[in-house]
Amino acid sequence: MDRTAAYALVHSRLGDSHTFAHCLATEACMRALAGRLGQDVDLWGVTGLVHDLDLDVCQDDLSQHAEIGARVLEAAGAPAEMVHAVRAHNDKAPRESLLDHGLWVVDPTTGFITAAALIRPSRSTRDLSVSSVRKRMKEQRFAAAVNRDQIRACEPLLGLDLDTFLGLCIGAMDGIRDAIGLGGTPQA
Ligand SMILES: [Fe+2]
Repeated sequence: MDRTAAYALVHSRLGDSHTFAHCLATEACMRALAGRLGQDVDLWGVTGLVHDLDLDVCQDDLSQHAEIGARVLEAAGAPAEMVHAVRAHNDKAPRESLLDHGLWVVDPTTGFITAAALIRPSRSTRDLSVSSVRKRMKEQRFAAAVNRDQIRACEPLLGLDLDTFLGLCIGAMDGIRDAIGLGGTPQA
């Protein structure tokens, strides 16, 4: 499954939604991470892009989330590693490969970075620093649904310290900020 086909499939299901923006953000972070870790950049990127494609039908009942998506991807001819990582990101399969771990760690990180960007006066990633994201991580009431431990797992699971990992993800998301609703207010 190439990127064009994956994009069309995901967009046909999710439209221009917040979930679609989240999928694009996850793709960007996965590409940056794969490059850093010497992994297959396209495989990682497309896995990030497709990982939530079933949320059009699972949003209100997450019990089958990722299992339904994995079946859609299998039917579309996606590679087995990609399908496994999608299943594993919502505990429908054990997390085993570096790709599985990468997706699992990146997934909450994109949501957290989005929340941290939107609370800034700029409403953008363009002036979002690693230290400001770190500070937000310590505020328990900020984006309370996001599991901080899952983000911090970058260190044991991916071998990247938190600052490096956050910097990579912020940079990747900033690179597509207009496409994911983080272009913010016009620069003075
Ligand atoms: Fe996700």
